[in-house]
Amino acid sequence: MSENGWNESAAAWIADMGEHGDFGRRYVLDPIMAPRALAKRPRAALDVGCGEGRFCRMLSAEGVACTGIDPTPALIAHAQKRDPAGHYIEASGEALPFDEASFDLVVSYLSLIDMPEITVPIAEMARVLRPGGTLLVANLNGFNTAGAESGWIRDARGELVHYPVDYYLDERAFWTQWRGIRIVNHHRPLQAYMREFLRHDLQLRHFEEPRPIVGAPEPKAERYRRAPWFLVMEWMKPN
Ligand SMILES: C[S@@+](CC[C@H](N)C(=O)[O-])C[C@H]1O[C@@H](n2cnc3c(N)ncnc32)[C@H](O)[C@@H]1O
Repeated sequence: MSENGWNESAAAWIADMGEHGDFGRRYVLDPIMAPRALAKRPRAALDVGCGEGRFCRMLSAEGVACTGIDPTPALIAHAQKRDPAGHYIEASGEALPFDEASFDLVVSYLSLIDMPEITVPIAEMARVLRPGGTLLVANLNGFNTAGAESGWIRDARGELVHYPVDYYLDERAFWTQWRGIRIVNHHRPLQAYMREFLRHDLQLRHFEEPRPIVGAPEPKAERYRRAPWFLVMEWMKPN
């Protein structure tokens, strides 16, 4: 078993993403992330922790030259196979193999919760971003990860009662599993992330705790309305 479970989980992850991504991506995050990523017509984008490459493929289809990096060999190999003309590199967020100011747009799409520490990766994201460029982040909300070890409390009929948050301020790693995927995630309070973005004088241009889109299938959508599941942040590197 690898340290974080990602290599062993790669096949199940690829199956779970399918063509359109899982529920949270399709009905909650993509409707915000895709237009925001494209808004300023970036020429060169970097997707840090690109996984099997779905978001990079979406950007490439819109004419953006997207580079994806990921440390999980099975995922980066799959991304390259799905998109032979694309640019995918096995690398980790802690050491981005690019010169400074190389990208107009840097994306971290649900990858910061997978990183064992965030000081160096966020410094790296800021470094490779050009002045005036955008750092677009989707992450699990800290209220979500603070309750992930117990999960939803249900009544005798299996109906959701509430989602308990506990030890919110204490950073910790935990194993989590669903549909054949078993990986390590990291809980951090929001302040731990904000501290790192602010350290580089990045300017917050947008913050959102998104709801599912209208028409998202029920009853699953209810979960994403009742507990704060995701957040989206858009930071700008000053000129
Ligand atoms: C939840 S998946 C998200 C993948 C993709 N961004 C998406 O939204 O489908 C998290 C990804 O982070 C990657 N990852 C784990 N540790 C990392 C690190 N230190 N630096 C960069 N990526 C990492 C994993 O290999 C995995 O592909």
